[in-house]
Amino acid sequence: STIDWDPEDAGKSGYEHYMLKEIQEQPRALRKCLRGRVDEIEGRVSLDLDLDRSGVDSTHLVACGTSYHAALYGAQLLRAQGIPAQTFLANEYDETCLAGERPLVVGVTQSGETADTLGALRTAQAAGAETLAVTNTIGSSAARECDHALFVRAGPEIGVAATKTFASQQTALHLLALWLGGGDVDPGHIAALRAIPEQVQSILDDDSAREVAAELADSAAYFFIGRGPQHPVALEGALKLKEISYEHAEGFAAGELKHGPLALVTPETPIIAMVTGYDERARKTVGNVKEVQARGAPVVAVTDGKADVEQYAQHVLTVPETTPEIAALLANVQLQLLAYWIARDMGRPIDKPRNLAKSVTVE
Ligand code: G6P
Repeated sequence: STIDWDPEDAGKSGYEHYMLKEIQEQPRALRKCLRGRVDEIEGRVSLDLDLDRSGVDSTHLVACGTSYHAALYGAQLLRAQGIPAQTFLANEYDETCLAGERPLVVGVTQSGETADTLGALRTAQAAGAETLAVTNTIGSSAARECDHALFVRAGPEIGVAATKTFASQQTALHLLALWLGGGDVDPGHIAALRAIPEQVQSILDDDSAREVAAELADSAAYFFIGRGPQHPVALEGALKLKEISYEHAEGFAAGELKHGPLALVTPETPIIAMVTGYDERARKTVGNVKEVQARGAPVVAVTDGKADVEQYAQHVLTVPETTPEIAALLANVQLQLLAYWIARDMGRPIDKPRNLAKSVTVE
C-alpha cells in the first residue's frame, strides 16, 4: 500500500511551504505577543520583567541575521523614548564596545541558541553588564543565561527564513521601548498597537505581491530602500529575498543610494521603496524614488498612499495607515510575500535554502 502524502506536510496545514504558513500565522502570533501587555483602559504597557528600569541609562542590542534587523528597528524605538541605544552585530561585539559604559545588553535571538549572540551576551556579562534575552524560545540558552528574558511568543517557526518571529520581535521590542520609557502610552498609540494583527491580516488578504512577483522574478538584482524605521525593513526585505530565491538583493538607507549604489541602478534592477506617511522622511524618499525612476529602474512602491508616490511607480503594494514605526512592520509583510512568490516562481526549495541553517551554533 502507498500513502500519497509526506508526514511532514501534515504540519503545513495545507500550505505548500512552512514559510507561507508562518507568514499567514502572523496575526495570531502578534495577538499573543500583545496579550496582557497593553492596557487600553489605563494607557499602559506592562511587561513581566523583574528589572529596575529606572536604573537603565543606556542599551546595547546584539543580534545576527534577521534578528539584527529587528534590533536596528528596536534601537530606533528606544531612542524615541529618550533611551540611548546602539545596535551591534553579535559577531563584532567585544569588550571595547562596552568601554566606559554600563548598558543593559539586549540579545535579540529567535532560537536563543545562536553562538555569535550567546558569545556577545557572555562578553557583556563578563564586563558586569545586566543582560536581557528577547527570544522566542523558552528554556533556550539565551533565556537561561541572561538575567532577564522577554518572550516574543511567535510559536514554533520551521522555515529557515524568519518571518513571523521578525514581526513578533519588532512588536516585543516596541513594547520594551515603551516600558523602559516609563510605560505610560497615549491612547492613539495604544490603539495603533492593538490594531496591528488586524492590519497584518488585511495585507495577507491582498494578492498584489503575488502579481508583482510574477512580473519581477528573474531580474538582474533587486534593491530595497527605506528611511528611519523602514531602513531595517529594507535590509530585511533584501535578506529574505536573497535567502530564499538566491537572487542578488541589497537593502540601502534611501538617502545613501546616491552615495554609491546608484551606479548599479539600471532598467534591469527593480527598486522596492517603502514610502509610508507624509512627513519629511517620506518626502525625501519620494525624491530618491524619482532619481531611480529617471534611470529607468522599475519601482515597486510599498505605501499607504499618503505621499503620492504611486505616480513614480510601476507597481504598488498597499499597507494600511498607522504610525511610522508600525508602518515598518506592515511594509515588511508585503516584502515577505514578495520574496515568497518570487522564490516560488523560480522553483526554489523555500523552506530549506541551500547552505543555510535555522540556528547557527558555531562562531
Ligand atoms: C541563522 C538563520 C537566520 C537567523 C539568524 C539568527 O542565520 O538562518 O534566519 O536570523 O540565524 O538567529 P536567531 O535564532 O539568533 O534569531
